[in-house]
This record gives sequence, C-alpha cells and structure tokens, in this order.
Amino acid sequence: MYKITSNTLFTGNQLIYLAECYSTNDVLADLAKQPNLTEGSVIITDSQTAGRGQRGNVWEANPSKNLTLSILYKPAFVQVQFPFGLNVAVSLGIFDVLNEYLPQKVKIKWPNDMIVSANGGDKKICGILIENTIKNNQFENSIIGIGLNVNQTNFAETKATSLFQQMGNEVDKNEVLNKLCACIEARYLALKSGENLKEEYIENLYRFNEKALYKIEDEHFEGIIKDVDEYGRLIVLHTSTNELNAYSFKEIGFV
Ligand code: BTN
Repeated sequence: MYKITSNTLFTGNQLIYLAECYSTNDVLADLAKQPNLTEGSVIITDSQTAGRGQRGNVWEANPSKNLTLSILYKPAFVQVQFPFGLNVAVSLGIFDVLNEYLPQKVKIKWPNDMIVSANGGDKKICGILIENTIKNNQFENSIIGIGLNVNQTNFAETKATSLFQQMGNEVDKNEVLNKLCACIEARYLALKSGENLKEEYIENLYRFNEKALYKIEDEHFEGIIKDVDEYGRLIVLHTSTNELNAYSFKEIGFV
C-alpha cells in the first residue's frame, strides 16, 4: 500500500505497515530494541487504538484518512543537553512538505506543531511527538512520531484541519509520505553536518514578534515571542513589564 520511491539515503528504506496498532511510537520503541532495525526505519498504520500526543493527550485521527507514522533516528551526534536541534530539523522538514501543498499558509508552532493560518482562524494540521532514549550520555534512539491530517473531512475538534479541508481535494497519502521521508531526512542531514537551522525555524514560527496571550498555570498575560534559546525554551517579552523570560514547554501555554 505504501511504497518509498523517493531517493532517500536511509529514511523509509525499512518500511513496516500495520493495518492497526496501539501507537506507532510505542511499537517502534519496542522494535528498536532489536539491533537489526536500522536508522530511518518507518512504522506506519491506518489506525491507532492508543495514539499519544504531547502533554499526555490522546491523538485522534479517522482511520485510513490520515498519516500516522514514526521514524527511527539515531542522533548520537546531537549533544544530550541540546536535544532541541532535532525538533528544529524535524519541524522544518515537515514544514517544507506542507509548504509545498499550502504555500505561505503554514507556520511552526513551538515546540513542534504545524498550524495553518487561513480563513476560519489558526488550525492545527500536524502534531509531532519526539521521544528519545539516552545511553552512556549519548542519544541512542529518537522516535519521531508524526500525525498529519491528510484526507479527513470533519473534525470534532474545531481547532483541527487537514490538507483536504484546506485544498478542497484529496491528496495521495503515499506521495505525502514520500515527501516527508525526503524532506525530514534532508533537514536531519543538514543538522548532522552542522548547519544552523534556527534562523529558518524562527522565520516560520507561529506568532513570532506578534502580541498575543499566553498562560502560566491559570494566569493569562500578553507577550511577544522573541526567540527560542539553545535549550529549546521560548523567549517571551512580557508587554506589561518589558521583562524577557525563558519558558520550557511545561511552563507556558498558548491562549
Ligand atoms: C501532539 O500534537 O500532541 C503530538 C501528536 C503526535 C501523534 C503521532 S501519530 C503517530 C505517533 N504515534 C503516536 O502515538 N503519536 C504520534
């Protein structure tokens, strides 16, 4: 059903399709314990029974309509104290793909969601869940979980959208998968070769340099995103005090 035809070095060379599974991240994490699973292996399913999102959320997607997959990378070259470089590379790779389908409409929402800004407001089209294991103070496995809404027509969640909803026509899921493998690998290799990807990440960052509302616990405040630091923390200027603060993912929410 799925076939990798793009000219990747390793991403998708081993492609495992499961009609149904609990979570591609969990299945891949189990399989990755075997030494014969090579870097770039991809697990893809039509239906997850226990798809997971960030912050312990559930990831829901209509069976067969969307892409739910996980890619195995072995980023030993990434320093363990700076894992965010990997988020940046993966986010830009997915951004590159979505930008081909929806030029000028896609933004990267820190730390790593994809948002489409269009009529009807800002909506999420893709979520990323990166889970790393560390061994001997080095990254061993990095499981890159991607949920990309492709052909789903309706969403219970009003803040979600799909390529179909934005383009008005169905999109070939295998084509999107091939583009994902090629673009994510290209960005991953760029990171590996020491290229600085942060500038492009910031250029395409949702709400960068715009006044907007954020929340810390239950308190709302107006702020402006000014940067993302080397630890992956969001640097926000509080407009009421002119103070710059750095926030980790668990500390701040978008309102
Ligand atoms: C988020 O937006 O909260 C992240 C969602 C990540 C969902 C994908 S679907 C494939 C992979 N398997 C999972 O259980 N989750 C990720």
